[in-house]
Amino acid sequence: MDLKGSKTEINLREAFDHELRSYFEYIYAGKRASDEGFDLIADVFHQTARNEAEHAEHEYLFLGRGGDVKASLQAAIEHEEEATAFYRKSADTARKEEFDEIAAFFDRIEKVEETHRTKYEEILHGFENATPLEGRTVRHSVLTMAQLMLPAQANPAGFVHGGELMKLMDNAAGVTAARHSATNVVTALAGC
Ligand SMILES: [Fe+2]
Ligand SMILES: [Fe+2]
Repeated sequence: MDLKGSKTEINLREAFDHELRSYFEYIYAGKRASDEGFDLIADVFHQTARNEAEHAEHEYLFLGRGGDVKASLQAAIEHEEEATAFYRKSADTARKEEFDEIAAFFDRIEKVEETHRTKYEEILHGFENATPLEGRTVRHSVLTMAQLMLPAQANPAGFVHGGELMKLMDNAAGVTAARHSATNVVTALAGC
């Protein structure tokens, strides 16, 4: 099926972007609903998000984007290079417009995208040379999290509650451990 240059190709691209945006928004809305104790509403958001992800997958395949492992690794490297350049440029623009907080955020993301690229490059190199991945390096499990703190998470003086920070640290530890061990994990503390 050659879609090149057709209106359907443009519509598929638009639909794909739309589905991905909906997916993110519903996952986020579901998280908020769950945090606020509305579990049934959260379920609906999460269920719809899964549907949107399936729609996006079909559109992705129609656009001929899926490939074998090597092609996927090559595409990922290109994608991460573009993302790194995009965030670098966006940080400069934000600084010029005096949105310093957003500029600092873009700076952080640029660095993360760069680590994604080097990770994919290492894997592709090993894949092409038939060298199996040896264990998991720190880079495979490294995690950067950013979260906007809202007034409800702070005391009247504007300082974020220690418990909120502990929760974030616990999440980060859990995600890192799950990435490293490629299985479900629990973070636990045995105290006396
Ligand atoms: Fe959809
Ligand atoms: Fe990335």
